[in-house]
Amino acid sequence: MSEFIMAQANGRTIPLEDKIFGISRLAKEMIAEKGKDAVTNATIGALLDDEGKLVVLSSVVEVLRNLTPEDYAEYAPIGGTPEFKTSIKKATFGSYEPKCFTEAVATPGGTGAIRNTIANYTAIGDQVLTSDWFWATYNSIAGEIGRSVTTYTLFDKEGRFNVKAFETKINELLMKQDSLMIILNTPAHNPTGYTFTLEDWDQILAAVEAAAGQDKKVALLVDVAYIDFAGDGIEYRKFMPKLENLPKNILPIIAYSLSKTFTLYGMRCGAMICMTPDKQIADEFVRVTQFSARASWSNCTRASMVVLTKIYDDLKLLEKVNEEREFYREVLVKRGKAFEEEAAKVGLEIVPFDSGFFASIPCENPDEIGKKLQAEGIFLVPLAKGLRVSVASVSEERCRMLPAKILAAMK
Ligand SMILES: Cc1ncc(COP(=O)(O)O)c(C=O)c1O
Repeated sequence: MSEFIMAQANGRTIPLEDKIFGISRLAKEMIAEKGKDAVTNATIGALLDDEGKLVVLSSVVEVLRNLTPEDYAEYAPIGGTPEFKTSIKKATFGSYEPKCFTEAVATPGGTGAIRNTIANYTAIGDQVLTSDWFWATYNSIAGEIGRSVTTYTLFDKEGRFNVKAFETKINELLMKQDSLMIILNTPAHNPTGYTFTLEDWDQILAAVEAAAGQDKKVALLVDVAYIDFAGDGIEYRKFMPKLENLPKNILPIIAYSLSKTFTLYGMRCGAMICMTPDKQIADEFVRVTQFSARASWSNCTRASMVVLTKIYDDLKLLEKVNEEREFYREVLVKRGKAFEEEAAKVGLEIVPFDSGFFASIPCENPDEIGKKLQAEGIFLVPLAKGLRVSVASVSEERCRMLPAKILAAMK
């Protein structure tokens, strides 16, 4: 007899427990039983210090602590305060000044930007395209609102961006759909740590332009959740000018989040920012995405908007925040390099890695290998095509220790 459930599934597959949180719970249980030293919990998508404590930028906390009740108690406008919109554009683009129309609409983190883009730039039943290594939450967000995710093979046999696979897939989808949304998570992609090169970008945009022609509509969501922890901010923003003034039926939307950059994960703040040569499309972007915001989360936290505004209104404070982040970014980059170096040394194949919170190992039976490692106190996230290691959540020493252990579990 099937189990009685009160809720309506509405075509969604709803697991009993989120996979990553479930594994993290097992790691915590083992820590309670055997102690911290016996467990390496490399499942967490947040930056932790070497003792396993959440890294929180003290310069940001100080601003937060000094807010007035009005700063956080009052509703924010649906699309965000005007000052926030100005500040978040500066945070997103850095020193680059787009020569096209840009509009920012506040969202609860990058997640909200992804949801709002799917809701407004795809039709119900559409397939959203991303790479075969991808953040599984894209699937949940799309499925929740009657869409689904389909993938292309990210790398070719030489470990380079597989433009052929990308091209084939967009052409195939645009034969069936009038519009297409593509999610590109770069730089420092979750789960691989890969960053699209400028050449990759040229290939991506040429393929999209050719496939879209004049009458198909393509929304290009660039999920930059990890941009400020990837490496030098100017270097990692060099792709942005390529997005200005594309044909008007191709709409780049940047999903920017305060979660990692300002260590404000729990404050739920970010923005979706469009880049278009057409004023009407920019105005429409504001109208439709604000409508969806009102109908789902209404407005976002005013406190985080005021924090960002205060940081960008005060050059000294901005420098302080950037310096503090830079310190932790170096810690993170070192951990990633340690993992990469050690993997090469012991002969563990990893997916092309550049920087960021995660690295991945391709393998045939990730669940089984994951379980074997858990017995040894190592907790990783099994994905469809391999295992994900969060270098953000374990020390450099442990990043060096992991490759040999993973390789041994694969044998
Ligand atoms: C690939 C990717 N995109 C977007 C996000 C958005 O996070 P948030 O909604 O906290 O900004 C995350 C967070 O884990 C992520 O890994």
